[in-house]
Amino acid sequence: MQVANTIEEARVLRRGYSGESLGLVPTMGYLHEGHIALVRRAKTENDRVAVSIFVNPKQFGPTEDLGRYPRDLQRDLQLLEAAGVDFVFVPDGEVMYPGDFQTIVQVTEVTKQLEGARRPTHFDGVTTVVAKLFNIIEPARAYFGQKDAQQVAVVRQMVRDLNFNLDIVVCPTVREADGLAMSSRNKYLSTEQRAAAAALYGALRRAEALWSAGERRGDALRDAMESVLAAEPLARIDYVSAADPETLREVEHEVRPGQGVLLSMAVFFDKTRLIDNFLLMPV
Ligand code: PAF
Repeated sequence: MQVANTIEEARVLRRGYSGESLGLVPTMGYLHEGHIALVRRAKTENDRVAVSIFVNPKQFGPTEDLGRYPRDLQRDLQLLEAAGVDFVFVPDGEVMYPGDFQTIVQVTEVTKQLEGARRPTHFDGVTTVVAKLFNIIEPARAYFGQKDAQQVAVVRQMVRDLNFNLDIVVCPTVREADGLAMSSRNKYLSTEQRAAAAALYGALRRAEALWSAGERRGDALRDAMESVLAAEPLARIDYVSAADPETLREVEHEVRPGQGVLLSMAVFFDKTRLIDNFLLMPV
């Protein structure tokens, strides 16, 4: 496995695989089984697999956790080597955003709801860095987790709008035994908070059960999730949502016949903010 730290090094490695398909798994490091599942999927669909590790400052708000975001590069590289990755791109901030950097890639509509409403500059940072990674690595396919449902919608929109010549592949959320979605941020949780955090999955399961029984009212689905979360004293709801999976706008009345719904939420455990979602299709 080769490691590139500069854009020139990454381009040289990429040129070495010319004529071969390459799958890219963009990450911010501190890898877990969810990332490795993306790598495994990429390996089945491409001749080569690259992973980027970059804690992207542009996608963190001023009061967010950039400074304490967990990092363990040596462990990450060992995991990626064991997973059979061909090359890892590990740039630093100066490589990605030199002093005269002045471009923002902005998706304007699908960024307005949910995470985008609470984290106003977050998706500008995501699309800017992902566009750069696509231009540097030139993958045939890029792999993202369903856990970041809005990120997937935003990146897909960018790829369509800017004609990036690649496919976005979305992989299922990988969960702990109690249903908690794997996330690098789970590391922040105390033992008590970690146990309480299973409430997100419980809330999604409760609303899913209603959906399966035929419930289509947005309010009823949101109320079901809220009541499970409200019963957990350590959880503080940021939002719960039942939204159109394409536009991400809230379902005001009822999900239209034949349409699916994206159930999602963000929940604080003290300062740690966790997100999760279920994408439910019509039965
Ligand atoms: O999902 C993430 O880890 C990040 O948002 C990404 C896609 C690597 C961009 O920094």
